[in-house]
Amino acid sequence: MDRIRIKGGRKLHGTIPISGAKNATLPLMIASLLTEETLILDNVPRLADVGQLQRILGNHGVDVMVGGKRPGETPYDGQTLHISAARIVDTTAPYDLVSKMRASFWVIAPLVARMGQARVSMPGGCAIGTRPVDLLIMALERLGADIEIDGGYVIARAKDGLKGGEIDFPKVTVGGTHTALMAASLARGTTVIENAAREPEVKDVADCLNLMGARISGAGTSRVVIEGVSKLSGARHRVLPDRIETGTYAMAVAMAGGDVVLENARADLLQAGLDVLAEAGAEISATNAGIRVKRNGAGIAPVEVVTAPFPGFPTDLQAQLMALMTCAKGTSHITETIFENRFMHVQELVRLGARIRLDGESATIEGVAKLTGAPVMATDLRASVSLVIAALAAEGETMVNRVYHLDRGFERLEDKLSACGAAIERIAG
Ligand code: EPZ
Repeated sequence: MDRIRIKGGRKLHGTIPISGAKNATLPLMIASLLTEETLILDNVPRLADVGQLQRILGNHGVDVMVGGKRPGETPYDGQTLHISAARIVDTTAPYDLVSKMRASFWVIAPLVARMGQARVSMPGGCAIGTRPVDLLIMALERLGADIEIDGGYVIARAKDGLKGGEIDFPKVTVGGTHTALMAASLARGTTVIENAAREPEVKDVADCLNLMGARISGAGTSRVVIEGVSKLSGARHRVLPDRIETGTYAMAVAMAGGDVVLENARADLLQAGLDVLAEAGAEISATNAGIRVKRNGAGIAPVEVVTAPFPGFPTDLQAQLMALMTCAKGTSHITETIFENRFMHVQELVRLGARIRLDGESATIEGVAKLTGAPVMATDLRASVSLVIAALAAEGETMVNRVYHLDRGFERLEDKLSACGAAIERIAG
């Protein structure tokens, strides 16, 4: 298993290119199941999760062709995928595939909408909480699917196709909104989604579906209306920049100090995160190239933050913010409201010398004057990267183990940081 070694204490200077968003790419790839024509996606990040979803789609008979490198392209340019679900050969998504990546459960929506049936393994628990799928099932039922749970599988049937309906989510769910959008696009009649997730990735998927011929309005707001169509076509769509990768590197710069341009980043996708960083003492400005983040000299000010669905502060940046606050000049409070168990990074940050107290869903972080390097590991993607951020400012050497979590969601992390002067290297193992 690969490891990453970081020697702390170097400031970051330069440019970090921001990749296409993982959490838009995954549902966009799944949306390809809705049409027999080819869906072309540009700016797709090179991530382990993308490769894993290619395998899962391959099991349904989907052909994914990865475009070759064009002259003048840098290693950071996103890849182009040509995805063709001309013939779906299998409507079952088995346990051994779905259990590796939770988002793959979402194939249930296009499969039942297009094929009239789907049999998809329940994803099971994961490191950040129980993460049920009851709301996704509720949405499909509202669209007329018959649901049966058998042997750990959800079986959805709609022999005569899905029909439009009212879906009122009692809780904001990104995956629930993605699945409702995909299913309703091919349902007969009108669907209204209330309390829809407003995340930019939901809007990106809806934009792509509209290019494919869907009739969706209101995506990006809490009320989305979908007029079903009988068929969708192919399209070409460019994946939006990854706001969580953006926020992560912005926190890395705030932690290590320095001056970095996050190329291609869009401030409008991450206002709540950038506001918190500015409050903590980082200088943030939007430029033509992206977002510039600076912290020179000044210390880090403590903050009070509660995670919330978009446009609130994202849960996917909670661990990174906590890493930053370990060195603040005072006491911070961070409350996690989305996932009940998303504090796997706390014990590891403590190993680096952080002072953090957990009380239910809230963490109190008492800033310390310095962190000290140590061997650490984490059990999920964002927790792992929070350890990298802490290590950039820690005295001495930190070895981050179980790097495969990072590879799921961060493209060439060590290259991007070392190009800005960080002492970071991957050790193959
Ligand atoms: C998406 O997960 C993201 N994943 C997550 O990113 C992100 O943390 C999360 O949204 C919240 O923003 C992808 O986009 C691939 P939810 P998702 O449904 O859709 C509860 C990362 O690190 N819930 O919005 O699975 C659920 O337990 C990841 O990139 C139900 O109760 O999240 C949670 O408390 C991890 N029943 C809340 O809703 C359901 O049926 C929000 O979850 C579904 C969800």
